[in-house]
Amino acid sequence: MSQAVDEIKIGGLGASRKRVEDSRFIRGKGNYTDDITLPGMLHMEILRSPLAHARIKSIDASKAWDIPGVHLVLTGEMMATRNLAWMPTLSYDTQAVLATDKVRFQGQEVACVIADDPYIAKDACEAIDVDYEPLPVIVNPEQAVADGAPVIRDDKENQADNVIYDWEVGDGAGTDAAFAAADVISKLRLHYPRSHPSPIECCGSIADFNRATEKLTVYMTTQAPHIIRAAVALVAELPEHMIRIISPDIGGGFGNKVPVYPGYVCSILASILLERPVKWIEDKSGNLISTGFARDVYLDGEMALRQDGKILAVRMHTDADHGAFFSDAQPSKFKIGLMHSAFAAYDIPVAHLTARGMYTNKAPGGVAYRCSFRVTEAMFFQERMMQAAADDLGMDQAAFRRMNFVRDEDFPHRTPFGFLTDSGQYAKCLDVGLKAVGYVDFRKQQEEARARGRLLGLGISTMTEPLGAGNSREYDILGIKMFDSAELKVHMTGKAIVRTGARGQGQGHETTWAQIVAHELGIPAEDVVVEEGDTDTAPFGMGTYASRSTPVAGAAVAMVARKIRAKARRLAAHLLEVSEEDIEWELGRFYVRSAPDRGVTIQECAMAAYSNMPDGMEPGLENTAYYDPPNLTWPFAVYIVTVEVDPETGVWDVLNMVAVDDCGVRINPMIVEGQIMGGLTEAYAMSNMQFITFDADGNCVGANYMDYLLPTAWETPGFELHSEVVTPCPHHPIGAKGIGECAAVGGPAAFVNAVIDALSGTGVRNIDMPLLPDRVWEAITQRHDVSGAPPVRSDD
Ligand code: CDP
Repeated sequence: MSQAVDEIKIGGLGASRKRVEDSRFIRGKGNYTDDITLPGMLHMEILRSPLAHARIKSIDASKAWDIPGVHLVLTGEMMATRNLAWMPTLSYDTQAVLATDKVRFQGQEVACVIADDPYIAKDACEAIDVDYEPLPVIVNPEQAVADGAPVIRDDKENQADNVIYDWEVGDGAGTDAAFAAADVISKLRLHYPRSHPSPIECCGSIADFNRATEKLTVYMTTQAPHIIRAAVALVAELPEHMIRIISPDIGGGFGNKVPVYPGYVCSILASILLERPVKWIEDKSGNLISTGFARDVYLDGEMALRQDGKILAVRMHTDADHGAFFSDAQPSKFKIGLMHSAFAAYDIPVAHLTARGMYTNKAPGGVAYRCSFRVTEAMFFQERMMQAAADDLGMDQAAFRRMNFVRDEDFPHRTPFGFLTDSGQYAKCLDVGLKAVGYVDFRKQQEEARARGRLLGLGISTMTEPLGAGNSREYDILGIKMFDSAELKVHMTGKAIVRTGARGQGQGHETTWAQIVAHELGIPAEDVVVEEGDTDTAPFGMGTYASRSTPVAGAAVAMVARKIRAKARRLAAHLLEVSEEDIEWELGRFYVRSAPDRGVTIQECAMAAYSNMPDGMEPGLENTAYYDPPNLTWPFAVYIVTVEVDPETGVWDVLNMVAVDDCGVRINPMIVEGQIMGGLTEAYAMSNMQFITFDADGNCVGANYMDYLLPTAWETPGFELHSEVVTPCPHHPIGAKGIGECAAVGGPAAFVNAVIDALSGTGVRNIDMPLLPDRVWEAITQRHDVSGAPPVRSDD
């Protein structure tokens, strides 16, 4: 009889183990950057530009220097003397650290004051006198390419206009031919608005340069500490081994904490100059107007269709508004990220995407907010287009999707843009969703309600998305290949520590990485501690974003555990005095094949690694694994929403929301559900209430929590989650696919589709998000599409 340990009891794969990190968070014992105080620490505040585009005629900081308690005032001019006025971005552009010649967006960093406390520093910022000469302002791509548009990046040689790139992918000629043969051509134009990840904790850093040791330690809010270490080494020309980046607990990242911000650079320089620790903690308005905007893409699409519903081809054009600096983090091959992952769930013979990126007078955009490099925009457009096409054909929404899905037997499937999707059971997921929402009955109710003047609607969103960059052949950031690593040390008593180069920001890595070790070795999860975020101790990794942790770092954890198991097998053979070939493994234990009762536990092997190893064997039980995934993982999701729209006010309420997610093997089902709930909440907020935009002067409108509403439990609808469908990832060591962002990526289209469905018969094809009541009411009463593109009128 097997003597294996019970996997669920030890908190292995499939156990809904409570999150170990919560024990400190719910007691208020988290350790965030702002909780850290170092002896002799000074405080830094940033002076930001009130104007979106202006020439700087002069900066007079003399009054600030005179304020008691001020130690340093940094301006662009001073930064320039150290070659630090500009820094490279993650997309091969440059970004002003502190403005020298012009300001290019409202909120841009102009000067910094370092003082005894943050209040003195703030007052001193206000004492700095900046003389601006206003310039014409550009707030959308159309204005950016208009005749006579001012060149925003006149600092760059060879930049004669505001176009950053003009890129294409797919088969243009083949797509044209398919369109020529189409029965029906369906078209849609929309704008995915600017949005802000808005983590509760803003960005911040504490730089601590020690002249005696020449070591620079920086505590900072970063999702990618090793990349920051490399960036500091290259930009500040400091030796990499003398830089230690520590990312303590992070109060939400969502992509906002991937880029390098001027505040980080200034606090580092200030600490080097003053030889004291310097803390910078961004305030909420600074965070909302200047860091890490996402989306802001205009999408134009056409779908070529056969009368029976078969999709023949897709043509897409995107204009992306990147703001004043092209600072997105994305694989260098793909100028508009993974936008071309659109339509991967459907069997479409040919497609073509053209994409332009533009500079405008806005804060840098393009952050992958809970997203893998623009997949959110791609999937939103895909599912809005699917709805429009089914309506144009007069086909049932579910039947149209089912007919065009990639079939289970056709995996791996090559998409028209060249991706290889791995596995899935799309039709089965759709069936589960339709049954759960009561699709057939709802359509009847909808008809009956309409006869009585009530507007009910149902929206479907089905999508697969690419999670887990790399492989290193195709995916890199600034030439650094995308892979990850894990280090596992098993101590002599069988307890262990695992370290990865990922950095959780609330996802629960401390819980789930231990579960992977439990699954591979049979060491109880509670005996495994997980550590991330310190570049002096963690092995190299590309960080946590793009739902890449489970697909890449999680896989590395499994692989290093397997290396440990291989060594433990040799130890077991030695202890049991048989040859390795005669040894079998069951969870937590090796035994002799011919005598299953004779065995040793993994803990006994660990003790032997330090006390009784065979002659010639290197002592100890620890190892490192670098994992370069062969492919991305492709989870699938079905989101279905039903709504009622009030025709008198444009207010809409969610009646029901069903989510069916297939993310392969679930390491921790409870954490997975939490990820889906969080993502759906963000999707709902995006579609319903998060309003942040710009007026014609480039003023950021809605940059506060009265307008940019973060949903609480009060306004968030309930969600019904389904986990029945599990298609293991064929190339991931434990069959897992990413899940962190699926619901935030696929969810928004379900909400918008539901409202548009409720308006069927009015001729309205699109209302841009957020679907605020006034926009919906305008669509109902004026019977036209409603654009949300900036500039907004100043009376809005
Ligand atoms: O990269 P990020 O951590 O944001 O996303 P993820 O890898 O998709 O994982 C989010 C959380 O869900 C992690 O704690 C994972 O271990 C967990 N997860 C899981 O339990 N099972 C999966 N198949 C995928 C993720």
